[in-house]
Amino acid sequence: MADIDVALAGRSYRVKVGAGLLDRVHAEAHAFLDPYGKRAVPVVADENARRLLGERLQASLRSAGHAIDWYEVTPGEGSKSWAELERLTDWLLDRGITRSDHVFALGGGVVGDLVGFACAILKRGCGFVQLPTTLLAQVDSSVGGKTAINASAGKNLIGAFHQPALVLADTGCLATLPQREMRAGLAEVFKYGLLGDAGFFARVDKDSPAILGCDDDTLEPVIAHCVGMKARIVADDERETKDARALLNFGHTFGHALEAETGFSDRLLHGEAVALGMVLAARFSARRGLISLADAERVANALARAGLPTEIAALGLDCDGTTLAHHMRNDKKAEASTVPFILLRSLGEAFVARDVDLADVAAFMDEQLRAH
Ligand code: GLY
Repeated sequence: MADIDVALAGRSYRVKVGAGLLDRVHAEAHAFLDPYGKRAVPVVADENARRLLGERLQASLRSAGHAIDWYEVTPGEGSKSWAELERLTDWLLDRGITRSDHVFALGGGVVGDLVGFACAILKRGCGFVQLPTTLLAQVDSSVGGKTAINASAGKNLIGAFHQPALVLADTGCLATLPQREMRAGLAEVFKYGLLGDAGFFARVDKDSPAILGCDDDTLEPVIAHCVGMKARIVADDERETKDARALLNFGHTFGHALEAETGFSDRLLHGEAVALGMVLAARFSARRGLISLADAERVANALARAGLPTEIAALGLDCDGTTLAHHMRNDKKAEASTVPFILLRSLGEAFVARDVDLADVAAFMDEQLRAH
């Protein structure tokens, strides 16, 4: 079991990583269950998480005398909508949730983002506990307090920073996850190595079969390492006002353009888009003479070995580089006159470049769309 503290003045919280945490929610989250003596605990879960893991959570809470009031969310980005937010906040208000209550989120990034945002605005802010059940949510989205729904203009454009009170990442949950989802989460694990820890990148490359095979001796320290890196970054730059937290967007500006072009659909999962985005960011760094082409291909080869997509030509997109660059212009990280790109000085050292010409990006994307 690993405990990592996210140190934020007045709002510090703990992230626990380990197998079996879901069976001990009654004890681990005891302090946040107190007000539910006579009421059922509100748990928001996606349908898959409830079907596969709901009974374990129920058994844990039942052992401490708590019933659950379930709210089910359809899996997929479509649930991060105004309509679902309205339905959820009405449901929470019907249950008389107060500012001192905590709502429990069981699922991946969609559930965590939706519940976090609902809790950010409900009565101007109530508490929530994250029970992330996907690799991607355990290493990234459940930690750090970014909460959001999607707008027709783009992904995560309506949201708030609202930190959870506790995160319990049960690595045992990952055994129920489809391999494609595991791989998508693994892309975010590679990201931590590439942005700030070359040794970790090499370790993840070597250990990716064990991670994908849910070997617990490998998973727990790897997830804890990612959470530790993220906790330090969030403590330093909670609201992304410095460049520190922006580094966590490595691969995301290129990746979001691909997600936008594929309609934020199952055709390309977020983690798959991040994998492609990291390869593009590495190759673009090589194009600017920052790293060697051989190093850029080391990134592509490691991700390919883990079964992740690395060539955008294989996506069969019906668009050109200018269209993709246009999506980047609309990215929420875009500033008034520039789109900041996270590029590499070396494998393990990312930085924010604000002098990137989008016409150059469009030309590069045209080459990549035709390559191989
Ligand atoms: N997922 C990037 C961040 O939390 O900042």
